[in-house]
Order: sequence, then C-alpha cells, then structure tokens
Amino acid sequence: MEFKLIKGDPLKLKSNVLVIGKFEEESISKTVKKVNEALKGTISQLIEEESYKSVIGKTLNVNTVGKTGSDRILLVGLGKKSEFSPNSLKKVGIAVAKKVKKFASKVIFNLDIEGSNLNSQNLIMGLILGTYEFNKYKSNNDDSSSTTDTKYNFIWSKLNQKDFDNSLQKATGIAEATCFTRDLVNEPPDTMTPTRLGELAKEIADENGLECEIFNNVDIRQKGMGGLYAVSKGSLEDPRFIHLTYKPKKKARKTVAIVGKGITFDSGGLCLKPADYMKTMKMDMGGSAVVLGVMKVISLLKPSVKVHALISASENMTGGGAYKPDDVVTALNGKTIEVVNTDAEGRIVLSDALSYAVNLGVEEIVDLATLTGACIVALGNYTAGVMGNNQLIINKILKAANTVGEKVWQLPMDEELRKDIDSDIADVKNVGSRYGGAITAAMFLENFVDDTPWAHIDIAGPTFIEKGGEFYPKGATGFGVQTILQYLLER
Ligand code: BES
Ligand code: MN
Ligand code: ZN
Repeated sequence: MEFKLIKGDPLKLKSNVLVIGKFEEESISKTVKKVNEALKGTISQLIEEESYKSVIGKTLNVNTVGKTGSDRILLVGLGKKSEFSPNSLKKVGIAVAKKVKKFASKVIFNLDIEGSNLNSQNLIMGLILGTYEFNKYKSNNDDSSSTTDTKYNFIWSKLNQKDFDNSLQKATGIAEATCFTRDLVNEPPDTMTPTRLGELAKEIADENGLECEIFNNVDIRQKGMGGLYAVSKGSLEDPRFIHLTYKPKKKARKTVAIVGKGITFDSGGLCLKPADYMKTMKMDMGGSAVVLGVMKVISLLKPSVKVHALISASENMTGGGAYKPDDVVTALNGKTIEVVNTDAEGRIVLSDALSYAVNLGVEEIVDLATLTGACIVALGNYTAGVMGNNQLIINKILKAANTVGEKVWQLPMDEELRKDIDSDIADVKNVGSRYGGAITAAMFLENFVDDTPWAHIDIAGPTFIEKGGEFYPKGATGFGVQTILQYLLER
C-alpha cells in the first residue's frame, strides 16, 4: 500500500476508482456535483433509484464508461454531518478498502472535507485496517482471493505535506500495531504458545529499546506466582510471565501498568468446555496481544508516561498435573484462592500480574482480558465492559475509547454480589453464581490491586468476532489497541 497527497482535477486524474463522499443531510457536495454533471446525471439518478442513504460507509459504485479519468466512481456515505468526527473517516476507510482491495491498483479520494491532521490519519488507518486479512495458512492464493497492492492518493483542502506525512506516520504505526495484535490472536494455538509470546515480547523490546524481563515456570514458582503456576500445571507448554518497560525520554509524568491475560488456549482445564465453546479459545490471549501491540508502537508515539507492560501467559489444559477444583492456590500478594472452577483461570493468572504491578509501585493499572462469557451476554460482541475501583480512571478509559471509536461500557461493581465469591476455607473463591459473572470476576481481581487506581476491561466480546462485523474483519479485531494508546497519550 502507498499513500500520497496530490493536487489536481479529480475529474481528469487517471485512476481505477475516484472516491467521493456524501453526508446524509446534504443534497450533494462540490465534487459529487461535478462528477454527476460529467456522467450526465447518473449519480443523482442512482441515488434516487436505489434510495441510497448516505449512512456511514455505505457505497454506490458507478462505471464512468470513460467519461472521467477514473474507471469507476465510488460514492461513500459519510453519515450525519452533525455526528461527524475523525472516526467517521476511519469507518469510511475500512468500508472503501473492503470494496476496492481486490481489484483497484490506484484510488483517488476527494471527499470535500477539511484535510485536518486527524481526518487524514483516520482515513489512512481505516484503509490499512480494512485491507487486513489473515491468509498465511491458505496455500491457494489465486487472483480472485488475493489483495491488490493499492496506491491511495488524496486530494485534501488545507493540508500541507508536512502534516500529511505526520498523519501518515501515526496512522501507519497505530494501524500496523492493531494488525499485529490481530495476527497474534488469529495465529493457531499450536504456534502461538506462551513461549512464542515471550519471544515476540523480546523482539519488540529489542526493536524499541524497551527493558525486558521474562520468567519461565521455575522463576514463576520461585517468585510465588502461585496462580499462574497452578493454571499452567496441566499443560506441557511452559508458562511465561512477561515484563516490558517503556521510559519516556523526558521525566515521566506518571507510571502506569498495562496488564494482559495471555491464555494461549483455554480448554477449560478439568472443568472442560464443551466442544462448541472451546472452538475459538485461541483468542484467550487477546489481552496480552493488545499489550504487545501497544508496546510495538510505543516508541513511535512517545507518550510521556512510564509504562510497565505485564503479561501472564499460559495454556489452560487437562494434563495429569492439572490444577483441580478444591485446590487452594496462593497468589503473589499472599492471598489464597479456592479453585471452584478451573475454567475461571483468567482471573487466577491475573491475580499474580496485578500483584506484581502493585509491587512495582505504579500509579495506575489497566488490565485487558477476555475474561467472561457473561460480559458477552451483557453487552454483545461489539462492546467491551469496563469496571474498576476508581471512577476517574474508568472515565479516562471511556473517554479514550470514545475518541478512537471503540465501544466500551461501564458495568457496576456491586457490594451485594461480593459475598458470591466469599470462600469458606480461603480468602476468596474464583467463581460466584452465574448471574453477574462479569462483575464478580472484576470484584475477584480487585483483591489483587490494593488501593492502586485500577480499571479492568473485559474484552471477551469484541476480541474475536467469528462472522466479522461491518467495520471488523472475520476473526481477531485488535480491539483495545487504539483505546490503550489513546489513554497513554492523554496522560
Ligand atoms: N476465556 C473465558 C471467557 C470467554 C468466553 C472469552 C467466551 C471469550 C469468549 C474464561 O476463561 C471462561 O472460561 N470463563 C467462564 C467463567 C465461568 C467458569 C465462571 C465463563 O465465562 O463461562
Ligand atoms: Mn476459562
Ligand atoms: Zn479463559
């Protein structure tokens, strides 16, 4: 893919596709009008006939039969003008890329929208995100299925080359980080093991000048990470605890920890999942993939906070050494956990990572985890849940998510539910009742953060969407990368 700022007459410039845009409330913009005249009214006629509504990303594809420099015109909906934000252009980019990626080698955008830095950045991000496919295991890459290497040219009013270059660099960084996260989650669990996550973390650290510490199962046991150790025991794969540190050049304004659940396959353990629920459980390392995606671009985006990236990586399997219901395990902070259900393993491995963050003395903790099916029941596949012990940090997450256009919704902590995870023999048990499962999971985690301001993002729904979505590819979405980057940049 290539992205260039250009000038010229959109009607005369040669391309496969000229993309023009229309807001819902607007009859027709400057360029649309010109194109419509050149095509003798075809566009307005089609808008009429197909009762085309310019909802965001909806396209109308017209063959110009040689009447303009472009072979085709793609009219794309920009949504309601009153609801327009740079995010709208990310969606537009995704929608357009999905339409043209199979055939167009050159595409020109002339949307008649002000070419701000953010507008340009989001459109380019959308184009990269919309082009994404996970096809490395397909041996039959014939023409109909493969993607064209498209050159995108942009006509932007009021955008100079320097600002364009800047927006291009950011867009590429953030979008590639998101696609990297998608790749990690889509990768089959036989290759994306805890060991592999550790290797990738090391590579990212080396590329970005980050500090890197990685613990294996012996270290994990010695250090007292009893939760991660217990969960890993049923697997032949060695667990990893991963710690990367980013330090800003200037004095850090704050120190934060981002923590990811890295269960590279969740069979449920001895409380085995039924086959239908086990399918897709390679995605249970989605939180850790977000953390690694963020660290991959952190030295490009240079937030002014110090960031500790922490990952508990393990399989959850049924081997002879597997941890059992009735076991009591001791987390790094000394709290004891009664295991009621081995399938609630995420919160157990996170107990050590959160305790570890507290020991580092960080000022804020944000964790991301594909933690509960209950959160999907509550919010569906497209929205993550956020909970925590501090409304200010929850608000920061909500604001960051809103800025980048990822849907996050707060669920309440509920004191009346806390007794659900009271244990008769240990400090806490790992499962409550079926009801309010996303909340009791968060309240379990709260035992391991002390008083550190903390937000927990349950990304079980949006991490992996089997059938895809209008603005998501099939499978892994990379959800969370952009929210966390935005959160770090706003600090
Ligand atoms: N990894 C799952 C949660 C999950 C489910 C993520 C579906 C994505 C899609 C987690 O480890 C789990 O198994 N949770 C159990 C908890 C239960 C045993 C209390 C669940 O949600 O069913
Ligand atoms: Mn589980
Ligand atoms: Zn899990």
